[in-house]
Amino acid sequence: MSSFRKAVLTAALLAVAGVAAAQSTKYPGLGRDATPKEVAKWDIDVRPDFKGLPAGSGSVAQGQDLWEGKCAQCHGVFGESNEVFSPLIGGVTPDDIKTGHVANLKANNYPGRTTIMKVATVSTLWDYINRAMPWNAPKTLKTDEVYGVLAYLLSLAGVVPENFTLSDKNIAEVQNRMPNRNGMNTQHAMWPGKEFGGDYLKPDTRNTICMSNCETEPKVASMLPDYARNAHGNLAEQNRMVGAQRGADTTRPERKAGEAAPAPVAPAPQPKSDPEAQAAQALLAKNGCIACHGVDNRIVGPGFNEVAKKHAGKADYLAAKIKSGGQGVWGAIPMPPQTLSDADAKAIANWISKGAAK
Ligand code: HEC
Ligand code: HEC
Repeated sequence: MSSFRKAVLTAALLAVAGVAAAQSTKYPGLGRDATPKEVAKWDIDVRPDFKGLPAGSGSVAQGQDLWEGKCAQCHGVFGESNEVFSPLIGGVTPDDIKTGHVANLKANNYPGRTTIMKVATVSTLWDYINRAMPWNAPKTLKTDEVYGVLAYLLSLAGVVPENFTLSDKNIAEVQNRMPNRNGMNTQHAMWPGKEFGGDYLKPDTRNTICMSNCETEPKVASMLPDYARNAHGNLAEQNRMVGAQRGADTTRPERKAGEAAPAPVAPAPQPKSDPEAQAAQALLAKNGCIACHGVDNRIVGPGFNEVAKKHAGKADYLAAKIKSGGQGVWGAIPMPPQTLSDADAKAIANWISKGAAK
């Protein structure tokens, strides 16, 4: 390349980047410092003292509309669903709002732990929704939408009334009504960190180092109680099975060391179901499809009954799609490629193409 063309090219590249002044000085030739504008885009954390919270507002009613359009399909109309994640709402009482301690967290017979039972700071909910939700399109909500949808969630939990408008002006008062606001304990080494003056250098467990006559066998001091094993439903049937990992089957007791792995859970046999439908449903369970699809309900992907209507008789198309995955036929959430055998894919595709009978 002629040195003239090189010079023109370099000038053009600098002009495109427009940031010649921000060239990295520490490592010349390698990248550049992030501009304040770029840093601001990442610097979105909202703290318990509401530092970082942008001004805005949203009502319960506005939030409900947004919830029904963008959140309910995964979390349930009332935030109660545990199909995609454990329930967000439930398990708190007006008394908890008074005391700031959620009584059900200590009730051994209460079956689960919802988000609103555990979370101590309303800022955490604001921050999390703003940065991470909806799961399939994070950071797409406008500031006022985050306020609105959070107001709706808080109204479901009885923290704010149905005619409430949540804003940066009144969120500190809402904090004083968070059911578990007094339930957060910092008497451990994990938090607060050094920057908050915490004794972060102490380890999480406090043992004395043994130098002679030491125990050779560990003594179990505490363990997950049996009732908690299945607290979030059967982990083996839940999502995140995109890779090879599968959750434990929490409907069964924990396996002893050396005990063989149980066969994958097949769904309970359906009454009056024909053998082909039963076989197909066992294949769905075996291949992890039921984490994202119900036979007649939508979870992350469409219900198989809907797919059956759309692609009736198209077994070859369906078998290919099951293996390749895809996006855009049913919405923005993609289906990852599936690693099942051709025979399984064909059998499932046949069953769907003939109507996905139960
Ligand atoms: C496609 C499914 C999906 C949609 C849609 C969705 N979520 Fe979620 N949501 C999830 C999953 C999965 C998690 C758990 C994510 C994790 O732990 O990494 C989650 C977690 C959360 C949590 C945190 C719960 C906790 O205890 O950690 C909140 C709050 C939440 N979602 C609110 C919302 C709101 C508000 C919307 C709508 C604007 C929404 N979600 C839309 C799937 C979804
Ligand atoms: C991680 C979630 C997930 C898993 C696991 C999953 N799917 Fe899907 N599936 C989806 C989503 C999301 C869509 C919608 C994709 C789209 O809009 O094109 C979909 C779409 C489909 C379709 C319709 C394709 C079309 O073109 O209309 C079929 C058939 C299907 N899945 C079968 C299966 C089978 C069989 C399995 C198990 C081997 C499976 N899926 C596993 C999420 C999943």
